Amino acid sequence: MKKVITYGTYDLFHEGHRRLLQRAKSLGDYLIVGVTTEAYDETRGKLNVRQSLIERIKQVQESGIADEIIIEEYDGQKINDIQKYGIDIFAIGSDWLGKFDYLNDFCSVVYLERTKGVSSTELRNAEGLLKIGIIGTGRIAKRFVPEARFVSGIDIVGAYSRNKAKLQEFVDSFELSLAAENYDQLLDRVNAVYIATPHPTHKELALKAIKKGKHVLCEKPITLNDDCFSELVQEAKKHNVVLLEAIKTAFCPAFARLIAYAKSGIIGEIKAVDASFTKLTSGNLRELKKEQGGGSFYELGSYPLLAIIKLLGKEYNDIHTIQYKPKGFEVDLYTRVDIIYPHAIGSARTGLGVKSEGDLIISGTEGYIYVPAPWWKTEYFEVRFEDTNKNRKFFYKFDGDGLRYELAHFCDMIRNKNMQTYLLTTDESKWISNIMAKIQTNKKLIK
Ligand code: CTP
Repeated sequence: MKKVITYGTYDLFHEGHRRLLQRAKSLGDYLIVGVTTEAYDETRGKLNVRQSLIERIKQVQESGIADEIIIEEYDGQKINDIQKYGIDIFAIGSDWLGKFDYLNDFCSVVYLERTKGVSSTELRNAEGLLKIGIIGTGRIAKRFVPEARFVSGIDIVGAYSRNKAKLQEFVDSFELSLAAENYDQLLDRVNAVYIATPHPTHKELALKAIKKGKHVLCEKPITLNDDCFSELVQEAKKHNVVLLEAIKTAFCPAFARLIAYAKSGIIGEIKAVDASFTKLTSGNLRELKKEQGGGSFYELGSYPLLAIIKLLGKEYNDIHTIQYKPKGFEVDLYTRVDIIYPHAIGSARTGLGVKSEGDLIISGTEGYIYVPAPWWKTEYFEVRFEDTNKNRKFFYKFDGDGLRYELAHFCDMIRNKNMQTYLLTTDESKWISNIMAKIQTNKKLIK
């Protein structure tokens, strides 16, 4: 009996899939189809798969062509499967031409011509492209556009900035179609906005977008106090739009797993979370200007606070803040915040003029988790115990700047009409805004 194997995501099962399976089957007597898991697709950069693994398997099953269905979940699995199932032929679409030649050592490899004019990507896009406008044209916005190209089903329509020269340069360099004359013009052309302006401007910009029924992805900190944030949340509810704070770490694939793992009790009770993020800067930068919401904690504090609230929750007793603000500077160059909980301590350290190790340590009664710098782009962590034989290492893939993950998640929320996400709830964002406000009124200064 000649055995054939093929693999795919099979999202929104279409004629191209059916024809490929039929032709693969006709190469032999028995066809095994490998269907990819969400986690595996994520690691290979497919971020917008619409259907669940179960739905995708069901469709392949219902096609009646496959004799057996297996799940593909890791790199290198194909080699193992071919040997395990005694495969004679590996078949795949011609879009992969040459990519699987290495499997010739194990069986024969056949590339089948792809059916023209249909693909899962096109079907996803046919549901309507999500039109996104960008407000602000600074460094983060410049990283956002290239990252957005990895997320299918969206169209970055254009941008708006008060600085017309910079706006034109931004729009030209990314070949966007619209350099909006004013904010209203941009809002009228989009379904959603990404706000990447200085922090003090976020609230008004977000409010206006929400009132026009536009979904909002807003850079962190979304607001500098929780009253402003609550107002935005209420308006977003009223207008039935998604409001999401762009703390990219919350959406990066490994971070949610890290949190779940830490909370599963593997290191006992969590007693301390120490998170640090420092970045040396100098010159005439927004980060160093008070009226633009600068300062190390406003700039970087959202990341450590995210780790702290995820691991220790909202109910703390006290908060101690020490800031280093040298003479001649308008803002803090280093901040240490200790948040005292009934049974634990969360410590956040941020620096713009002081450099330190940017790691995250979660200490427990039975062991600790160490996430090396840059932990906010989590791709590796280690669980360590007194008995080093028990230590375990975890690796994950993290592509680019990580902005693609938050954007993909934002788009999924809009499409699925989910106003909340467990990855970063509005309550968590509100708590972060509240701490941001608190440390300004309750701090010790060193010069
Ligand atoms: N395929 C095909 N003809 C098409 C689309 C897909 O022959 N028009 C084949 C692919 O080459 C692959 C298999 O079907 O061998 C599964 O592909 P998959 O990646 O699941 O489907 P796509 O439609 O290509 O998905 P996407 O647009 O997300 O890349």
